[in-house]
Order: sequence, then C-alpha cells, then structure tokens
Amino acid sequence: MQKETRHFLNLPDIDPDVLKAILKKAHALKKQKFNPPQLFKGLSLAMVFDKRSTRTRISFEVAMKQLGGHTIVMNMSEIQLGGAESVESTANVLSRYVDAIMIRMSDQAPMEALARHAQIPVINGMTDESHPCQIMADLLTIEEKLGDIEGKKIAWFGDSNNVSNTFIQAAPIFGFELAMSGPEDLFAGNPHYVADPKEAAKNADVLVTDTWVSMGQEGKTLDKFWPYQINADLMACAKDHAIFMHCLPMHEWEEVSEEVAKSPASVIYDEAENRLHAQKAILAWCLENAGVSVSQKSFNFGNE
Ligand code: CP
Repeated sequence: MQKETRHFLNLPDIDPDVLKAILKKAHALKKQKFNPPQLFKGLSLAMVFDKRSTRTRISFEVAMKQLGGHTIVMNMSEIQLGGAESVESTANVLSRYVDAIMIRMSDQAPMEALARHAQIPVINGMTDESHPCQIMADLLTIEEKLGDIEGKKIAWFGDSNNVSNTFIQAAPIFGFELAMSGPEDLFAGNPHYVADPKEAAKNADVLVTDTWVSMGQEGKTLDKFWPYQINADLMACAKDHAIFMHCLPMHEWEEVSEEVAKSPASVIYDEAENRLHAQKAILAWCLENAGVSVSQKSFNFGNE
C-alpha cells in the first residue's frame, strides 16, 4: 500500500500531535548533536530558492548531511521551473531523483501546487505568507530557555509578516498566549492586537520582532514603526526572565536596540542554531516513509 506523502507546508495542515512530536524530536536530536543518528543515509534533499538565504540554506544542508544524507541546492534562475517547465512536470521529475524538496518561494500557491504533484515530501522554506520551520525553531528555543511552551506569553512587535502569521497559526496548536503590537493599519482584524506596546509587553515571557523591511520592500518608510522598537524600556515591562528573539537577519538598530540585541536576554544565536535541530526533526518526520523513493535502493556500483 502506498504510504502518505508527508508535506510540511503550513502548521494548521498538520496534526497538532504530530507537530508536538516533531518538537520533542528536535529536543532529542539536539541532545545527539555530537553523535547524530544516520537516519538519512542514502537519501537526498533538493533545495530550491527564489530569494536569498543564509540560515535556511545552510541549516537544511548541514541537517541533511549530519544525518547521513545529501543535498542539491538550486536557485530558481538555474532550473527550468518558472521558465519552460511547469510545476507539475518539475514535481514529477524531482520525485524520480530525490527524496524530498525544500523550497523558498515568494508565492505560496506554486509551492502548494508542487506538493500536490510531487510523490515526495515538500517542505516550506519560507513564503511571503508563512515560515513554519522558523517557528518550530523558535518554539524549541523558548522551551530550552523557559520550559514548556504551553501557557507562555509571547509578545510580537513591529511589522505584520510571514513570521507573525505563523506565530498566529502556532498559538492555538501549542497553547501559548500571543500579543501583537505595531502600526494599527497593519494589524486590522488581528485578534491578538494590542495598540500600546508597553501593554503588549506586560508579563511577557518572550519579546520577538523581525525586520521592518522584508525582502523586496527596500525603500519602505519606517516612521510609523519606531514606537514598536524592542529596547530596554520595553523589555522592562516584561517578566524578569523574559528573553528577546529575532529570526534574523536584523536591520541594526531599527526593530531592536543594540543594547537589547547584545544583552544576556537575547537568545538570537541559539535561535539560529535551533533551525538546524528543528529541521532535522521536520526532515525525520517527512522522510520516515521515504521507502517509496528510488534512493532507498542500496547498490554497490561495479558489483551489480
Ligand atoms: N530566518 C531566516 O529564514 O533566515 P534566512 O533568510 O537567512 O534563511
């Protein structure tokens, strides 16, 4: 019987118990970071990017390789997808070569179409709408620093974007409280919106932000964002143990002050490292059924 193909595209599409199991697995794989299990021996991951990346590209590549697998990295400008070849054809062809695809695309719809046509898992490496791998790494970081995510208060400041969208999706799944503060016009209809940033930060366990200038928004006017900068005054409204998070890259020192970003409360580089461990766990869930792929057949070239 054909096993299900496990895509990791949007948090709400995945069973909450599975997401919690992936988070638990991420903790376990981090504990094994100096002796990683060779789960992906013989398996290959194709990575496709239509935007720049440091963390996503390197952490997926290292995650796959540390667990025994291989990677192929392609920019959209280097492959036929988006030019002469359709999403359907690309999905069918890649399904004959590799065991999973990680893709970063601006538009969510072609990524979802790729997953519909692929016979292998497709992982969302960030779209303009969502960034689920980032949020799994963030939750891993919060649990490491502060314990169980359930019941924690996360306060988001600044822009409304793919990362804030994914925090909204994650809140009911993982049972954390979310307050969001930024220019009112960007948060219209958002049930987590709190106009006063100090009120949003009150009693928070985590203060988090992202750049006010997402990729492709260069030249944007920043005047309306300054009241939502995370600085020492805002941190002082949160719990004593509160941590500062940022998915990076930062625009120094716009959305966060240098004082906060370099303070003991800042966990930004642990957060960046945790992309590696969270994605190992995501890949492990996606690839558990990889037995349908061509790569699972082992052979010894020359002896067969
Ligand atoms: N946070 C994040 O996704 O970083 P990159 O754009 O460098 O991959």
